[in-house]
Amino acid sequence: MRTRKLGKTDLNLTTVGLGTWAIGGPWEYGWGPQNDADSVAAIRTALESGINWIDTAPAYGCGHGEEVVGKVLREVGEMPIVATKCGILWNEKREKMTCLKAKSVRAECDASLRRLGVDVIDLYQMHWPDPDADVEEGWEAMVRLREAGKVRHIGASNFSLRHLERVERIERPVSLQPPYSMIKRDAEAVLLPYCREHEMGVVAYSPMQKGLLTGKYTPEKVAELAPDDHRRRDPDFVGRRLEANMELAKGIADLARGYGRTAGQFAVAWVLRNDEVTAAIVGARNRRQIEETVQAGDWALDEEALARADELLERHKGQIENA
Ligand SMILES: NC(=O)c1ccc[n+]([C@@H]2O[C@H](COP(=O)([O-])OP(=O)(O)OC[C@H]3O[C@@H](n4cnc5c(N)ncnc54)[C@H](OP(=O)(O)O)[C@@H]3O)[C@@H](O)[C@H]2O)c1
Repeated sequence: MRTRKLGKTDLNLTTVGLGTWAIGGPWEYGWGPQNDADSVAAIRTALESGINWIDTAPAYGCGHGEEVVGKVLREVGEMPIVATKCGILWNEKREKMTCLKAKSVRAECDASLRRLGVDVIDLYQMHWPDPDADVEEGWEAMVRLREAGKVRHIGASNFSLRHLERVERIERPVSLQPPYSMIKRDAEAVLLPYCREHEMGVVAYSPMQKGLLTGKYTPEKVAELAPDDHRRRDPDFVGRRLEANMELAKGIADLARGYGRTAGQFAVAWVLRNDEVTAAIVGARNRRQIEETVQAGDWALDEEALARADELLERHKGQIENA
């Protein structure tokens, strides 16, 4: 698979990386029940298919996502690049908490190293700039972790321009992890140009908009989601927005079919169409899903495909504005 260098680092990431949010299993912001054997198979298949990096976070299933990743890492021959995060924790009731105090960030890093079973984390990202008042303290703690050799590079996730500028006074992040898909294009206005200008890598999350852009979601399918699947509360999965998203996904599916491809592959290839995006992080809950999606990594969309996608997106934009 194609690789792209992550900003100024020495990390060459495959254009598709494996995300492990859903693999974490049930918690407040989870995706409902998840079978660990399926997760292990998905991670192994991802690595066997040429994906060379994994994105995870302690928050995914209150440590469980990292544990499942760690189980596979302990068995693989060649170690992939491992990215994880800090700043989102949980209490004894498994309720979400945020903390960026230096002591907490240090403890989180040690816990991640333990769960993942690695000596060093290749890319350590601040999950959210929250609590806002502690962003600088947390960022400084991350710099110290790099100096101590526990992490190799430090990156930002879900940062606004203002947050990037704030931490830059301490040290510029090597990368940004923003949401970016055909449905969520906010990053295009300011963040992607900023990252290009400052040679920061971009690892785009939810490129298939949490599965919507595979084209499989209808109101009936959404109604069948597990009661604790957070997507039930996601406005993109409800009402007229869902209808508009379904129509977009159908248009993409028709377009992709002409190339012998699927809607999900198109959505991921679209995110990768410009090289300011280093890689797309795709979620997968089983072997079959990643076998399909991984193929997007080498698909360079041609001018005609991009022009037809623009027409679909223009129509979608109008529908969302009126939704
Ligand atoms: N930094 C952050 O705050 C943040 C936020 C979100 C995500 N992320 C990272 O980005 C990763 C990817 O984001 P994501 O998981 O939200 O989104 P995604 O890649 O847009 O969607 C993944 C989901 O789509 C479905 N799917 C995947 N491949 C499929 C296929 N071939 N056919 C049919 N359905 C398929 C699966 O869910 P179902 O089968 O249940 O539909 C899968 O969990 C996360 O795992 C995480 O590592 C980070």
